Amino acid sequence: MPPLSSNIKEAYETARKARENAHAPYSGFTVGVALKLLNSNELVTGCNVENASYGLTLCAERNAFAAAIVKYRILEPEFMVIVSETTPPSPPCGACLQFMAEFCQPGFEIYLANTKGIQERLLLKDLMPRPFQMKFWSVKS
Ligand code: THU
Repeated sequence: MPPLSSNIKEAYETARKARENAHAPYSGFTVGVALKLLNSNELVTGCNVENASYGLTLCAERNAFAAAIVKYRILEPEFMVIVSETTPPSPPCGACLQFMAEFCQPGFEIYLANTKGIQERLLLKDLMPRPFQMKFWSVKS
């Protein structure tokens, strides 16, 4: 990784702390996220929240975006740091990528990290080149 700016390092620490709140008693796989928005210096956090009815599980990334919408309504997402414990670090799942594509530009930066630090920088378009978008559909009568 090239040298990282101080706000990315701060976001890593914030995501690492958010991961400690993960509720993952079933998988044991904990994820923490810090989302930076252009319109705010505050980082919005997320962690995964599992449920005894497994399919109800909420991913850390979607929780962060939902929390940001609750707080700001309109988002200008700048970058996100995701911390898990795998090597190499895990990317967001397909459902989360589709969810992010609703609010982010293709150049949205995603930093993948594990407990050793940030390992990789990707853009949303690298992971999700063609998200589903309603505007692509025209309703014919
Ligand atoms: N998980 C996330 O939080 N983000 C992802 O992008 C993929 C998976 C969580 C869901 C579940 O609690 C655990 O990781 C194992 O799938």
